[in-house]
Amino acid sequence: MSELISLTKDGEVAVITVNNPPVNALSPGVPEGIASAIEAVSKDEDVKAVVLIGSGSTFIAGADIKEFGKVTGGEKKGGSLLPLLLAIEDCPKPTIAAIHGTAFGGGLEVAMAFHYRVAAASAQVGQPEVKLGIIPGAAGTQRLPRLAGVEKAVEMCAFGEPVKAKAAFECGIVDRIVEGDLLAGAVAFAREIIASGVTPQKSRERNDKLGDEQTNAPIFAAARDQARKTRRGQTAPVAAIDAVEAATKLSFNEGCKRESELFQQCLFGDQSKALIHVFFGEREVAKIPDVPKGTPTIGINKAAVVGAGTMGGGITMNYANAGIPVLLKETSQEFLDRGLATIRKNYSNSVKKGRFSQEVMDHRMALITPTLTYDGFEEADIVTEAVFEGMDLKKQVFGELDKVCKPGAIIASNTSTLNIDEIASVTSRPEFVIGHHYFSPANVMRLLEIVRGKATSKEVIATSMALSKKLKKVGVLVGNCRGFVGNRMLAPYGREAQFLVEEGAAPQDVDGALYKFGLAMGPIAMGDLAGLDVGWRIRKEYKHLEDPTVRHPLVADRLCEMGRFGQKTGAGWYRYDENRKPIPDPEVDKLIEQASAEAGIERRQIGEQEIVERTMYALVNEGAKILEEGYALRAVDIDIIYINGYGFPAWRGGPMWFADTVGVKNVYDRISEFHAQHGKVWEPAPLLKTLAEQDRTFADFDKGKITATA
Ligand code: 3HC
Ligand code: NAI
Repeated sequence: MSELISLTKDGEVAVITVNNPPVNALSPGVPEGIASAIEAVSKDEDVKAVVLIGSGSTFIAGADIKEFGKVTGGEKKGGSLLPLLLAIEDCPKPTIAAIHGTAFGGGLEVAMAFHYRVAAASAQVGQPEVKLGIIPGAAGTQRLPRLAGVEKAVEMCAFGEPVKAKAAFECGIVDRIVEGDLLAGAVAFAREIIASGVTPQKSRERNDKLGDEQTNAPIFAAARDQARKTRRGQTAPVAAIDAVEAATKLSFNEGCKRESELFQQCLFGDQSKALIHVFFGEREVAKIPDVPKGTPTIGINKAAVVGAGTMGGGITMNYANAGIPVLLKETSQEFLDRGLATIRKNYSNSVKKGRFSQEVMDHRMALITPTLTYDGFEEADIVTEAVFEGMDLKKQVFGELDKVCKPGAIIASNTSTLNIDEIASVTSRPEFVIGHHYFSPANVMRLLEIVRGKATSKEVIATSMALSKKLKKVGVLVGNCRGFVGNRMLAPYGREAQFLVEEGAAPQDVDGALYKFGLAMGPIAMGDLAGLDVGWRIRKEYKHLEDPTVRHPLVADRLCEMGRFGQKTGAGWYRYDENRKPIPDPEVDKLIEQASAEAGIERRQIGEQEIVERTMYALVNEGAKILEEGYALRAVDIDIIYINGYGFPAWRGGPMWFADTVGVKNVYDRISEFHAQHGKVWEPAPLLKTLAEQDRTFADFDKGKITATA
């Protein structure tokens, strides 16, 4: 019929195939093509039933997300899929959607407009729209409760998690699981329906699973409560719940109207724009201009980790979780046992919470081989070093690894600050040395900063990027500067948080404002969690390099001098009770007031807006410098780093996207004011100035619309 849609016949069963790689999205032409194929077969007397299937690796994975930006940007008019789906559903002959891969979003909505759904055992269905800041827009919130019941529909529409074929069958979304060839199974199912002579029921006409006010009210209340807690600040999950609730209170047509209103509100809101930016950003970061797709990679079949501390243990779990056998080396039996005990405890907790079975845990533990020697390292394809942070020790370990590792093995360092080139310099193979900067807890946090040294080979970079995917991480390539991207930006951010405290805000005011902004945790509480002593030691070591003409925060050092290192000592900026709840401490207030007096600062009331601007714009200004210096490839790479490694709210799109939404010029003007008030630490990044002058955004920078700087 068209390149996107083909129509064939298998006897009396018509087969419509969607062919829109890579994911058969509902791009312009696809829904229309399906509808006209349905219209054609409706008139064809030889056809008694219809099967819809996707070509390639998946059924329809949803609406074409690229189209949303065109609609909100005013480039084209948005249209609803719903009229086409209603026409499809009205087909007088039985229609069957055959699902493999993923039937997501609009894909599931299409499938639910078909009379029956059969699925391959490995298939998944879902309404993940909320992850893009929107809700289902083509009756998903109205049909799903009719097929799967209200509770399942609320869960799927409000939280967006996929449902596997078996569970979809159990709750009524799918009518049959097909083992073996899906198309053959779907055609056989179609023949059974023809033979049975039953008139298929349209899902929009089913009301038997919609429950009543009494049974539904607690379901909606619980979902709203969960959304408040787990999707803090986000509008789409609440809108999705409202839309499903409408299904239980209004007719199908009226419910669809309500869904459409809520969909439009979400689509044109800032959150969906930000989350769509993040969706494409997570895929964009995999694209490295000089390391194209198809660059040869090294097979990673065996791994080794050096150091079984906080990070080494988590990194070891990442390999075991991915099914890669891993050696774990320590310096003493005691440390090795301690490291393994932590790994075991983490896995046991997951088993207790029902995340996976004891059998899975046993299998993962069996993949980990503890050792006190380098025996077996000669077989590893990759070694990740996670020993204490110190150049001399890192050099010693890399020298040893260079001797024991086979030629062609990757040697990665998890250093958070040290120079990768200097570490690589002690080896005979700097092209195989790279930074793999995981974030604590390494088995949980999704970010992996991949640090490119000056000699690191393209093959090693391509392998690292592919490995990050295998380990279920988001790998972002960064350059080799102090703190790389994430931690380098954290320095001015933390500095401003402390300055605000010295100028008059209480620690809980600063944390509170940023928590309200959407961060998982404020910067002061984060310092207490990470341990204040780490920064204190570094500051003492590098005291001689400090610029005496700029202001430095005073309180953190004082807290450390008092032995208040944060949560680990039960007290830092806050006191902690046995549940690790932070409690503001009058002793700290006194200390802060003293520090303010010593620095000659007159304390004042500081509002939430200033707290957000001072801290967020400090991130943005440093991010702009990093971008200009080339240590991040794109602004969106910085956004993805902050969202996945630092608890930045995805619905704000990351710090650089946030600056775009505020307006780069506004950010620049405010930074210029801070510069005048607070001195050279606030010198605006030249790139920021250029963007502001040319009325451009960081997104424009990424699109190559601007390259020159002031
Ligand atoms: N629209 C446009 N492009 C899409 C897309 C979509 N729905 N889904 C995936 N893509 C693109 C990706 O950007 C990527 O492009 P690239 O190669 O140029 O970077 C390519 O397809 C492959 O995607 P992945 O790298 O993500 O491939 P995976 O195999 O890892 O994952 C997937 C496949 C599970 C389908 C995943 O892509 C996914 O979750 N996609 C989004 C699904 C979704 O959110 N659907 C709902 C859309 S909104 C909607 O339907 C509204 C409706 O209610 C009206
Ligand atoms: P840690 O102190 O918890 O663990 C380090 C482990 O290395 C200790 O168990 C020690 O016994 C072991 N070790 C020391 N020398 C060794 C050797 N020669 N051979 C084998 N094992 C040896 O430290 P942590 O926090 O795990 O940090 C490790 C590295 O990860 C550091 O470079 C750090 O900068 C980096 N990092 C730390 C993060 C954190 O939040 N803790 C986050 C990201 C990176």
